[in-house]
Amino acid sequence: METVALERGGRPVLARLDLCLTERRIGVIGANGSGKSSFARLLNGLLAPTGGRVTVDGLDTVKDAKAVRRRVGFVFQNPDSQIVYPTVGEDLAFGLKPLKLEKAEEARRIRLILERYGLAGAEDRLVHELSGGERQLVALAGVLIMRPSILVLDEPTTLLDLRNTRRLMAAIDALSERVVMVTHDLDLLAGFDRVLLFDEGRLVADGAPATVIERYRALLA
Ligand SMILES: Nc1ncnc2c1ncn2[C@@H]1O[C@H](COP(=O)(O)OP(=O)(O)O)[C@@H](O)[C@H]1O
Ligand SMILES: [Mg+2]
Repeated sequence: METVALERGGRPVLARLDLCLTERRIGVIGANGSGKSSFARLLNGLLAPTGGRVTVDGLDTVKDAKAVRRRVGFVFQNPDSQIVYPTVGEDLAFGLKPLKLEKAEEARRIRLILERYGLAGAEDRLVHELSGGERQLVALAGVLIMRPSILVLDEPTTLLDLRNTRRLMAAIDALSERVVMVTHDLDLLAGFDRVLLFDEGRLVADGAPATVIERYRALLA
């Protein structure tokens, strides 16, 4: 990320950012409206910077938008924003479409990913009949089935109870992929490699979880 700035609706939302994100687990924290979601959306080209440029493994999020989208999976706060088909199986199959797999291979990959996320046999279940936690896991599975090399999650646990938060975090912990997670749940960041703190569109702290969280608490005090 080089000298990146972002405006939305004519207002500055993120101020000059120069960052190189290489760690496997990166957390993003800050008050409501501080720019966390905007920052997250820059990472996969959902938003284009109004100044500077954002590259992911050398690919420009604007010029190479398609390749970047394939590489960076994005999980929204509300799973309903990204689940588009009525059944779990159809929804997961959607992500596999570009791969043009044979039906049997497609079904096999769907079965495996559902087994991995505690949803074995859920192919024919109606998404709207699932619990919120199950829907969030389906949304996560729907992104992971595309095999992104980086996963960006925007407050993925906000709608979840403690049990489902643990299930989701266990699923995320098990990933070998790089993860960038926006969260208000500071406890989830304990084992992370690096945490970024935003305040009114500025990056005000960047470092180890304990140090940055302490800074955040001081900011709010
Ligand atoms: N679609 C939009 N158009 C204009 N301004 C927006 C839009 N979305 C968010 N903003 C503004 O950008 C700022 C940062 O928002 P956001 O990145 O969503 O923060 P956070 O995720 O930390 O709550 C806020 O001031 C918000 O009002
Ligand atoms: Mg947000």
